[in-house]
Amino acid sequence: MIRIALLAAIILAAPAAADTVAVTAAHLLDPATGRTVDNPVVIITDGRVAATGTNVAIPADAKRIDLPGMTILPGLIDVHVHLTSDASIRGYRHYAYTDNFWTVVGVANAKTTLEAGFTTVRNVGSNHFDDVALRQAVDAGIVPGPRIVTAAYAIGATGGHCDNATLPPSYDRKDASIVDSPDEARAKVRWLHKYGAQVIKVCATGGVFSTGDAVGAQQLTFDEMKAIADEAHMLGMKVAAHAHGDDGIATAIRAGIDTIEHASLASDATIALAKQHGTFFDMDIYNDDYILATGTANGTSEKSLAKEREIGLKQRQTFQRAVKAGVKMAFATDAGIYPHGTNARQFATMVKWGMTPLQAIRAATTGASEALARPDVGGLNPGQWGDMIALPGDPLADVTLLQNVPVVIKGGAVVKDARHR
Ligand code: ARG
Repeated sequence: MIRIALLAAIILAAPAAADTVAVTAAHLLDPATGRTVDNPVVIITDGRVAATGTNVAIPADAKRIDLPGMTILPGLIDVHVHLTSDASIRGYRHYAYTDNFWTVVGVANAKTTLEAGFTTVRNVGSNHFDDVALRQAVDAGIVPGPRIVTAAYAIGATGGHCDNATLPPSYDRKDASIVDSPDEARAKVRWLHKYGAQVIKVCATGGVFSTGDAVGAQQLTFDEMKAIADEAHMLGMKVAAHAHGDDGIATAIRAGIDTIEHASLASDATIALAKQHGTFFDMDIYNDDYILATGTANGTSEKSLAKEREIGLKQRQTFQRAVKAGVKMAFATDAGIYPHGTNARQFATMVKWGMTPLQAIRAATTGASEALARPDVGGLNPGQWGDMIALPGDPLADVTLLQNVPVVIKGGAVVKDARHR
């Protein structure tokens, strides 16, 4: 009964006639061109941009959203989040919670993330298809949240970064994310695709928050990564590889993987390889500050902290070299490791380590759109979703303005307006 009522509500909510919204503001920053235009008008019809410009007529029946004095820009994109993780619950603290707890955590984090100005995210790893559930609920208008590109489980090797290897052997079981041969890897991609993955995430090397592995060590073979990349591409999906160590990064690039997450210890030769292949680096360079400042307070083990100390600064130096070399970059924070909603803190770190403010904003708009193969987001051109944020000043002059987004619009609907509070 309840389900039928819900379905009826969804059907009734669908607009019968075209729903037109006109947004006006003082300025519009177009990340693609880097230009700021004055007195912009954006017309959004049924959620998508119909026209953007300065000499655009506002239809008489349009609902107006006037943002005087404000600068608008496309909604932000974070290509590396874990909505169903909580930064304050690390290590063995996980075992105090039931499995579905994490889906509920995701509901809260989706709202927080959207209200921080991130209108699209890629969720690169969760359990039980809880990210797929979240995406379906957001898309159905049942809970607020960004557009979510789902990876479901992150694929990895036995005992690797994607294996929850925190229990003694008497509790041994093969996690749903585990593959130990190219054939298993290929089958896993098919299974994930079958149940709602839109991108494939793999753990190519060890990590900081896993136990018993070395952060730089490669954990999947070339053949396994190649099987995953080939199968995913055949099915129309991109592949993202968690990789800190140089060998793992280079192998992932050679295997045809599309985005390298973290990329901490990439050598100059590997940076050149990424450039040659057009591989994206999605580097979460703010993380180190949060992880080291919180220490063991969140339940993080000393071993993980030691690994963080090993890579944190080097990752920033790698970022600097990769930016200089012109490697493609997408904005990626690993929020979930640090608190959701504070994603935009990373912009200032990216500028500190070599990007211009425009490059950092492009990473979170046009760059991310390309990395995700989602041309429907990342800009305010006709056909793209009417997703935007409004700021009280120019983010090119001060990227920290992005840490406090007062107005968020998703698909032409105001989802946050904190201007007068
Ligand atoms: N999920 C990553 C891992 O466990 C987080 C790395 C965070 N540290 C950093 N410096 N980016 O490996």
